[in-house]
Amino acid sequence: MKNYKIAVIAGDGIGKEVTDEGIKVLQAIEKLDNRMAFSFEYFPWGCEYYKKTGKVMDVDGLDKLKEFDAIYLGAVGAPDVPDHISLRDLLIKIRQGFDQYVNLRPVKLLQGAPCPLIGKKENDINMTVVRENSEGEYAGTGDWLYKDKPQEVVLQTSVFSRMGTERIIRYAYELARKEHKSITSISKGNALNYSMVFWDKIFAEVGKEYPDVKQYSYLVDAAAMFFVKDPARFEVVVTSNLFGDILTDLGAAIAGGMGLAAGANINPEKKFPSMFEPIHGSAPDIAGRGIANPMAAICSIAQLLEFFGEKTWSDKIIAAIEKVLVDKKVLPADFAGTAATKEVGSEIRRQLRII
Ligand SMILES: NC(=O)c1ccc[n+]([C@@H]2O[C@H](COP(=O)([O-])OP(=O)(O)OC[C@H]3O[C@@H](n4cnc5c(N)ncnc54)[C@H](O)[C@@H]3O)[C@@H](O)[C@H]2O)c1
Repeated sequence: MKNYKIAVIAGDGIGKEVTDEGIKVLQAIEKLDNRMAFSFEYFPWGCEYYKKTGKVMDVDGLDKLKEFDAIYLGAVGAPDVPDHISLRDLLIKIRQGFDQYVNLRPVKLLQGAPCPLIGKKENDINMTVVRENSEGEYAGTGDWLYKDKPQEVVLQTSVFSRMGTERIIRYAYELARKEHKSITSISKGNALNYSMVFWDKIFAEVGKEYPDVKQYSYLVDAAAMFFVKDPARFEVVVTSNLFGDILTDLGAAIAGGMGLAAGANINPEKKFPSMFEPIHGSAPDIAGRGIANPMAAICSIAQLLEFFGEKTWSDKIIAAIEKVLVDKKVLPADFAGTAATKEVGSEIRRQLRII
């Protein structure tokens, strides 16, 4: 029997409400499949922790997390803590510290999910965005000169290393080859004359090793337009940290909204734990009311199981969510329903048991 050790960082706001439902899905699977068991250790980090201790995460946080098979994260952020503190001192620390250089975000219109694009069906929106997650525009390098003086200057420097660029592009090519899909690189070589020209060069270079994979390259502005007008042209997408961040929110919007969108931060070599999270934030406006939609957090559990090699259970979770969406009897408030977070979670588990 395989025993998976999961570190849970529920975080702030609705983070705990939604991760509770994801954990219950794993506990339900454990009862249905005696090959697997899960143990959970909870870490109280986030903005509330910061307000009490002055730290978003313990100084030795990465040491504490490194022995786990995976990290399950809810959301961090609070209105009275600057967002760059929670983002940099927790999320980015974990992503960079554990070399989680792949951010994998499925953009898939599930059956029964609300789609704002008229006439689009499940087959029209089914892509995987592979976002560079360790450097690029979010490398955090730069300077703030002459701060608060009339001549002040800020520099925000993007970092594109050959190793970092090559490995993310290669990861996406491998995925496209494995899934018999096309690959699309999204960049901006016409305006960013160093970083993105370099990106395009590496995409073409690595592409020579994958003659069996259909290859396309788009400027980010055109890609944003086609995400809305013709999303079917995208299958596996590879892009930089900033462009991926923005495009995946657009992807979430066309594929049912933030209530369904999940993202995995992967260290493909498995030298460090990977981290799975819904892409929504802590939603302070609805936190504590028990009405948050837990589907995105449960979709992250599907990604976590797929990463563990449990593709069948991963597919079953998605099928259970689709059944709930199609039935329309137990829907959360953001899908025009009246069901509480716990009721939605319980209905997904009920469907999982009968699928
Ligand atoms: N990965 C993360 O931890 C993460 C991601 C994004 C934002 N944040 C943080 O979260 C805080 C709030 O950010 P925001 O308001 O821009 O984004 P948000 O995603 O928290 O909320 C945006 C809107 O979507 C709604 N919403 C989000 N998730 C929902 C869910 N599961 N069910 C129902 N409705 C949901 C909210 O009620 C809100 O109206 C900020 O501090 C931000 O920095 C954290």
